Amino acid sequence: MPCPALPDGFDFTDPDLLHHRVPLPEFAELRRAEPVRWIPQSGNVAGFEDEGYWAVTRHADVKFVSTHPELFSSYLNTAIIRFNEHIERDAIDAQRLILLNMDPPEHTRVRQIVQRVFTPRAIRALEDNLRTRALNIAAEARAHAGPFDFVTQVACELPLQAIAELIGIPQEDRTKIFEWSNRMIAYDDPEYAITEEVGQESATELIAYAMNMAADRKQCPAKDIVTTLVSAEDEGNLASDEFGFFVLMLAVAGNETTRNAITHGMHAFLTHPDQWELYTRERPATAAEEIVRWATPVNAFQRTATQDTELGGKQIRKGDRVGIFYASANHDPDVFENPDAFDITRDPNPHLGFGGGGPHYCLGKSLAVLEIDLIFNAVADAMPGLKLAGDPRRLRSAWINGVKELQVSAG
Ligand code: HEM
Repeated sequence: MPCPALPDGFDFTDPDLLHHRVPLPEFAELRRAEPVRWIPQSGNVAGFEDEGYWAVTRHADVKFVSTHPELFSSYLNTAIIRFNEHIERDAIDAQRLILLNMDPPEHTRVRQIVQRVFTPRAIRALEDNLRTRALNIAAEARAHAGPFDFVTQVACELPLQAIAELIGIPQEDRTKIFEWSNRMIAYDDPEYAITEEVGQESATELIAYAMNMAADRKQCPAKDIVTTLVSAEDEGNLASDEFGFFVLMLAVAGNETTRNAITHGMHAFLTHPDQWELYTRERPATAAEEIVRWATPVNAFQRTATQDTELGGKQIRKGDRVGIFYASANHDPDVFENPDAFDITRDPNPHLGFGGGGPHYCLGKSLAVLEIDLIFNAVADAMPGLKLAGDPRRLRSAWINGVKELQVSAG
């Protein structure tokens, strides 16, 4: 049955939509009436016909698509953005060097190399260092006499410092990474006056920076992660450009996502004071996962059908684009009791905020959960009386559910 409540022309990838809100009522309507629905789009960029995509909104279907890479490929770009407006053919070729956009067996080869950085041992080894950093960040924020921006003063800091620490980027260069990754994500937000060219230039500069690091370590090996990734002989290694794109992906995948989980989490706590009170008292270990479910920082990714297939009662044709909406899956009442409640004791919590399983499942999940735990513990110790001092200003983006500014005061 077609979905009556979704107006013609409604597009879940419209950046103006996410600029204002996550379309939860429309997702609910689709899950109920037409869980796999074709959303037409039009555009005139040379080389592309009119485009459209299947919106997949139920938890079970998002999982199915994610775990069947042989039917749903990542190769033709996974970022679900208004394709025609932003991506040209050359750029698509470059996108294929990004892990997220690879299929097996290439994906399996690169993933096996890069996951050496993310072993439980490697993450545990960072814990004390990151705890001290989280405590310092919260202590510096508390020193503000008046309201301050939680995004720049708190939420941005730990993810950036963690990535710099993990890959061995000198801490003094981390603001460069911050600015490059900010410009790459915010280029379609007119409020920040960043053009698409500046977004592309930032990506190029970041890749060049990382490739220089790789070249340097190839010449002078050190005892660090970069050396492990680019110089290992027997277990395989990354070429310099592969390393460049890996760092580019970490700058966005590990940085924007965790920052927005922390900001949305803080906003959720401050608008649900019973949950903040519970958190400051008991620090439940289940809180971080519920924050990621609630925030769903990555609204969606996309795949491309490799053959004609059926999904949710619809005939998908080879070559069709398929949008998997994590934000919708995370509110699916078939899986979550009372899905619209923010409940930090929710357990089990099989949310898809880190992906729907399958080969691309978030590589940095343990690091992200650790960072979220550490920062909220530090904020609860330093500023248990934190208060909202304004409404969040949302990012204008087609696929990141982001907040640019959240004014708070230490209380
Ligand atoms: C992949 C979410 C933090 C690195 C993904 C995917 C999602 C996601 C939805 C795609 C999964 C799929 O396609 O099946 C998040 C969220 C985070 C977070 C919500 C924070 C709350 C991080 C961190 C890092 C990281 C901290 C690393 C420092 C990656 C990488 C991939 C990935 C490398 C690609 C994996 C692949 O293609 O094999 N993440 N992520 N993420 N994430 Fe995360």
